[in-house]
Amino acid sequence: MTDKLISSIPTDLYIGGQWVPSSDGARIDVVDPATEKVIANVASGSVADATRAVEAAYDAGPAWAATSPRQRGEVLRNAFNMLTERRVEFAKIISREEGKTLAEGLGEVDYAVEFFRWFGEEAPRTMGQFGRSPAGANNILVDHIPVGVSLLITPWNFPAAMGTRKIAPALAAGCTVILKPASETPLTALALAALLKEAGVPDGVVNVFPSGRSSEIANCMLSDDRLTKLSFTGSTEVGRILLAKASERIVNCSMELGGNAPFIVLEDADMDVTVGAAMVAKMRNAGESCVGANRFHVHSSLYAEFSDRMAAAMAALKVGPGLEEGIDVGPLINKSTVDKVAGLVDAAVAGGAKVLTGGKRPPGPGFFYEPTVVTNIERSADIMHTEIFGPVATITEFETDAEVIQQANDTIFGLAAYICGRDIGRALSVASKIDSGMIGINRGFLSDTAAPFGGMKQSGLGREGSQDGMHEFLEKKYIAVDW
Ligand code: SIN
Repeated sequence: MTDKLISSIPTDLYIGGQWVPSSDGARIDVVDPATEKVIANVASGSVADATRAVEAAYDAGPAWAATSPRQRGEVLRNAFNMLTERRVEFAKIISREEGKTLAEGLGEVDYAVEFFRWFGEEAPRTMGQFGRSPAGANNILVDHIPVGVSLLITPWNFPAAMGTRKIAPALAAGCTVILKPASETPLTALALAALLKEAGVPDGVVNVFPSGRSSEIANCMLSDDRLTKLSFTGSTEVGRILLAKASERIVNCSMELGGNAPFIVLEDADMDVTVGAAMVAKMRNAGESCVGANRFHVHSSLYAEFSDRMAAAMAALKVGPGLEEGIDVGPLINKSTVDKVAGLVDAAVAGGAKVLTGGKRPPGPGFFYEPTVVTNIERSADIMHTEIFGPVATITEFETDAEVIQQANDTIFGLAAYICGRDIGRALSVASKIDSGMIGINRGFLSDTAAPFGGMKQSGLGREGSQDGMHEFLEKKYIAVDW
């Protein structure tokens, strides 16, 4: 039973290697989205606690930065081994608090753990540079030094992977961190804190700080001179507010923000490959992903076939609690997310759109919404311009490549895009004209530890994963030297 597993997770704040209640005793409930029942409650950090967390990370900073890259790599390797061993346990925790199916929970742990391996390997490989100035006047020495105490704010949709994607490069670079997990999914982060302690992360190097008072906490930490880095994954709306606050002290920021991914089906696309990719791009995590396909643009010659096949594939999915056998799609995270998704579909239908399948909340408890396919949509409808974050595929048709490129780029976002077509030269040519940080061709899954993850336009700043992910936590120091 997962109740026992859930009750074994520490629920206080993890500061300086100690489990401590919040200074004012406040706690937040954690709700199972499949049942709407409270499964745990965890400490909700106060502003006074926030200052203590920054202090703990600051005090631990010099000793951690002074460890050798190899030592830091080995601690991350221990974390990789331990999390790999405990993948089923973590997958169940994720599934219980976030709602995703067990298979998706396992997939997330397998993805999450790779960041420990990758950055554990990168730690000893990140060297500085040395060269002679062009005029020959002096030598140029460039060192990489840790950026310092880092606030990591993670979303609820991938509670393990978004944590490890930030913790691992920060630690590899020699930084100390305060992880502020989403209030909806703090349990995975707290379980991760306990695992990292066992893996040998010294006290104060990783602090985990759930709080229901997110904006006060972020304001407090971003005002503290000891904090020098913010890495945030979440909505563009919140990112904008955090950037404004961070600008007061010119805090170094990495931002992984919202998306509105187009999925383009060119006229020569292979329909089996396309529908397979479309289902992955749309339905990973029940559509609750910033890289999820948000709108399908299909060549008019394939529009009817693609719409019918998507409707059949979506209708065949079994919706239910993520930990139950045979379930394909779990609940959404909370009621307001279901309300938002339902509101977008209802408004599109009121504007003349046609629902081919789904379009309703199933009866009974839980934050469920049926896998839905909508066609005949007005291009100006809100659903075409809003990040849906739910199991709803919107399909429109186009005639020419130029037309679809214009439609795909008609958004403030530029995170992910997908293109299907047999002629790779043509698909690459379309890809080169799409303003997007990441593009999948004939595939619906593009996240990879070794690839730079991030967006253009209002989808963010900086990149995670790859070699770039570690540089987000390093400052360059240039020394001009004669000898
Ligand atoms: C996200 O949706 O926020 C991240 C998805 C990923 O890393 O693949």
